[in-house]
Amino acid sequence: MDTKVVLLRGDGEDDAALREAGEILKAGGLVAFPTETVYGLGGDALNPDSSRKIYAAKGRPSDNPLIVHICRQEDLYEITREVPETALRLAKRFWPGPLTMILRKNDKVPVETTGGLDTVAIRFPSDPAARKMIEYAGGFVAAPSANLSGRPSPTDCKYVIEDMRGRIDMILDGGAVGIGLESTIIDLTVEPPQILRPGYVTGEMLQDILEQVEDDPTLFSVKAGVAPRAPGMKYRHYAPKGELVIARGAGSAVADYVNARTKELQAHGEKVGVICVAQTAEYYGGCDVVKIIGDRGDEEAIARHLYRILREFDDENVTKIFSEDFGLENGEKGLGQAIMNRLLKAAGHQVVDCGGL
Ligand code: TXA
Ligand code: MG
Repeated sequence: MDTKVVLLRGDGEDDAALREAGEILKAGGLVAFPTETVYGLGGDALNPDSSRKIYAAKGRPSDNPLIVHICRQEDLYEITREVPETALRLAKRFWPGPLTMILRKNDKVPVETTGGLDTVAIRFPSDPAARKMIEYAGGFVAAPSANLSGRPSPTDCKYVIEDMRGRIDMILDGGAVGIGLESTIIDLTVEPPQILRPGYVTGEMLQDILEQVEDDPTLFSVKAGVAPRAPGMKYRHYAPKGELVIARGAGSAVADYVNARTKELQAHGEKVGVICVAQTAEYYGGCDVVKIIGDRGDEEAIARHLYRILREFDDENVTKIFSEDFGLENGEKGLGQAIMNRLLKAAGHQVVDCGGL
C-alpha cells in the first residue's frame, strides 16, 4: 500500500489535508495523526472493519481495546449508556487534554473496537489538528498509539513512518509531540474510580476533583496472579532490543555500579548504554553510549524524551542498557509516576539496588 505523508504547518493551510484524512477515515481507511501525547493510528471507531484493520496494521492482539477519540464533549452521550457526574467534573477540568475515561458503552460502539468489553475508553485530545481531523471523520476515531506492537509509542513523525509506512493510507506529520507519554486512563465504572494508566494528568490532580481515586495495584510492581485492568498494560510494551535495567541508588553509587558492570560486560563483547540526567552524564565515561534524558528534576523533559531514547538504542545495537531512576526524588508522585511506570515496563521490572540510600 502507498502511504501518503503530509506535513502539517499548524495554520489554515492544513485544512485540505485534514479534510482528506477525514474522508479516508470515513471510507474505512487508516490515518496516523499527531496528538499532544503520542501519535495515534486512527480508524472509524464505529466501523468494525476499521478496527480490525488497526489491529492488523499494528500487529496487535485484538483483545486489547482501542481508545475512541472525540472532538466535542457532548459526543460522550452518543456512545455511552450513562455518563456519571464524575465524568462531567473531570471533563470540565481536563478536557480537551491527556485524560482518557472508561465508561459503559452503548450499542453504537462495536465490540471490535473495545476488544469484546462492554466499556469504552474515551478521550478528547487538545491537539487542534487532531480535533479537526476527528470532526471531518464524523466525530469518533479509534486510535491506539501509532507504533508496531511491542515498540515504544511514536513521539515524532519519523518513528510513525518507520513503523507504519506501507501499512496505512496516510500519515499526518505534526513534528514532535508535546508530552511524549500516553494519556492517563481512569476507570469510572468502578467505585472508587481507578487509575489504569498514569500519565500527564496525575493522581494528585484527579484526587483534587474526585474525593477518592485508587491505583490499579499492578502499576508499579508485578503481582503473581493479578492482571492489570487495562488489557494493554499486561503486554510488555516499550521493550527495547537491549536488556534494560533500572539502577537505583544515591549519589555516586549508581555510576560506580554501572561503570563496574560495564567493564565486565564489555569484556564479554557487550555494548553498554546508559540513560541519565545532564548532571551525572560525565560520570559514565566507561559506557559505550551515554544518553542524557533531561535535567535532573525536569520531569516534563524526561517524559518527552524517554521513548525517543529507547528507539535510538535499538538503532545503535546496544545489548545492555542501564537507566537511572527518575521517580525517587519526590517519592514517585506527579509525572514521575507515569515515567517510572513506563520505564519499569520497558525494563520488565528489573531493578538493581546500587546502595547509598
Ligand atoms: O495518549 C493516548 O492515549 C494515545 C493517543 C494516540 O491518544 N493512545 C493510546 O492508545 O495510548 P493505546 O491503544 O496504545 O493504549 C490504550 C490503552 C490500552 O492499555 C488498553 O488496554 C486500554 O487503553 N483500554 C482501552 N479501552 C479500555 C477499556 N474499555 N477498559 C480498560 N482498558 C482499556
Ligand atoms: Mg500503545
